Amino acid sequence: MKRILHLKSSIQGAASYSIKLGNHIVEKIRDKYPGSTVEELNLADIEIPHLNADVLRTFFIPADQLTSEEKESIRLSDELVKTLFAADIIVIGAPLINFTIHSALKAWIDHITRAGITFGYGANGPIGLVTGKKVYVAMSSGGVYSEGPGKANDFVAPYLKAFLGFLGMTDLTVFRAEGLKVPGVKEHALERTIDSIMID
Ligand SMILES: Cc1cc2nc3c(=O)[nH]c(=O)nc-3n(C[C@H](O)[C@H](O)[C@H](O)COP(=O)(O)O)c2cc1C
Repeated sequence: MKRILHLKSSIQGAASYSIKLGNHIVEKIRDKYPGSTVEELNLADIEIPHLNADVLRTFFIPADQLTSEEKESIRLSDELVKTLFAADIIVIGAPLINFTIHSALKAWIDHITRAGITFGYGANGPIGLVTGKKVYVAMSSGGVYSEGPGKANDFVAPYLKAFLGFLGMTDLTVFRAEGLKVPGVKEHALERTIDSIMID
């Protein structure tokens, strides 16, 4: 039995390919680990603010010295961090938006990246503190980036792998529903990716 966190970041509701793909990944995880629980959160629906100067400053104040106003300013960040630590397996929906992730997913990253909480500094540099997690990324894109001419612009998978790895989430598998706007590819893109899902 695992605690699964399914983070979505699509603005396309029921039509979203990354959500459909993420749902299939969750289903396969539940097949493998019967009784697993799932917490779902669409980051695009919860209005995570851009990281601002007040919040950033507050991140560095020791918890026992925070005023009630400061506590309130990082309440969302604290909740997102708590939800992340509580999960065993994290499924992240990552639609491609203008060559990168949706800004809601980036805002989530900015709010869960906390010195002394999700990463620290060791003798040899930064150390990720969010360890022992398995991450599956459910990507969706109009174009094809895993091969061919689009590969030069394949920024999202390497970025998520590098950054989540920095926080300690080094065990990451990416599934891509890609070519969703490419005739001849789009017709079977999602099904093909769903068929390729392997849960390790
Ligand atoms: C504002 C916007 C920007 C997009 N930018 C890209 C892009 O840069 N590259 C690409 O391949 N597809 C792009 N797309 C297509 C989406 O990646 C595609 O529709 C995908 O299915 C979105 O994921 P979702 O269905 O989970 O919302 C864009 C779509 C929108 C709405």
